[in-house]
Amino acid sequence: STVNVVGVPLDLGVSKLGVDMGPTALRYAGIFEALEHAGFPYLDEGDLDVANNFALDRLPPERRGTAKRAEIARVAENLGRHVHEAAMRGETPLVLGGDHSTAIGAIAGLAKARGRLGVIWIDAHADANTPQTSPSGNIHGMPLAISLGHGYPDLVNCLGFAPKVRPEDVVIIGAKDVDPDEMAFVREQGVALYSTFDLEHLGLSRVMDEAIARVAQGTDAVYVSFDADVMDMHLAPGTGIMTRGGLTYREITYVCRTIGERLPLAGLDIIEVNPLMDKRNSTAELCVELAMALLGVKWTDYERNYLTANLPC
Ligand code: ARG
Ligand code: MN
Ligand code: MN
Ligand code: MN
Repeated sequence: STVNVVGVPLDLGVSKLGVDMGPTALRYAGIFEALEHAGFPYLDEGDLDVANNFALDRLPPERRGTAKRAEIARVAENLGRHVHEAAMRGETPLVLGGDHSTAIGAIAGLAKARGRLGVIWIDAHADANTPQTSPSGNIHGMPLAISLGHGYPDLVNCLGFAPKVRPEDVVIIGAKDVDPDEMAFVREQGVALYSTFDLEHLGLSRVMDEAIARVAQGTDAVYVSFDADVMDMHLAPGTGIMTRGGLTYREITYVCRTIGERLPLAGLDIIEVNPLMDKRNSTAELCVELAMALLGVKWTDYERNYLTANLPC
């Protein structure tokens, strides 16, 4: 189906500057050329109109927090409507973030259009903080909890319904930095979380089998939220939170390929790309490649040794 590409230059979920340039970085890295090359019909919907940190930081300190949250809520509604309309036309929304609070509206719009939604959250973080558990207060650490119905009411009630997803339909892959009270919330909700340790311990193929089965079973459609910080800092420095011990090229390509080959995605996002941290823009280029894998593009164009005796081709 037609891929509906929309940029959300949102950085208000975090205080560091530059993640609002994610959509530009992904365009510059060739997202449209890649879609073209892969033979996907696409629509370039441009960027939503979003106020950013340096605009709202001019407000007096006591008004900043509320003003930023109100703007995040307004953007979530706009993106929610956009994604809903695209999905109702049978298109596949591809959302270019923006910090991870971008996912609030995208998940809202897709859940409204498609019904019971499975979500694969590929991230070094769980983003399942609530205002009570968050050590930073940053909204980009909260979007999964918000989609599950917990957190600030103006965000939880995006598009007028909540929750957007059920815990049993959500899988987090690649987590390695989860706050203690956030982990307690994940456990009590019953969300499946596969940490970087689990990827080693259980093996990536078993993790992906379980993850895909979980989000597919009982749901009407599947969404993937892809946070670039899931990858190791040496591979993908262009993100707000760079850490060692993230996924390698082989691991992240395996994750994205298995999803793309086994699930038709109803929508996806590419989140937290910050080109200020990566002047060569190699992180955005890698994200373009991974987005194509998530959309089911066979890998042979990128990697000539995708050869195996064990899988049907
Ligand atoms: N858990 C931390 C927090 O709540 C980090 C969240 C990072 N989230 C992200 N989307 N990069 O602030
Ligand atoms: Mn995230
Ligand atoms: Mn993250
Ligand atoms: Mn399920």
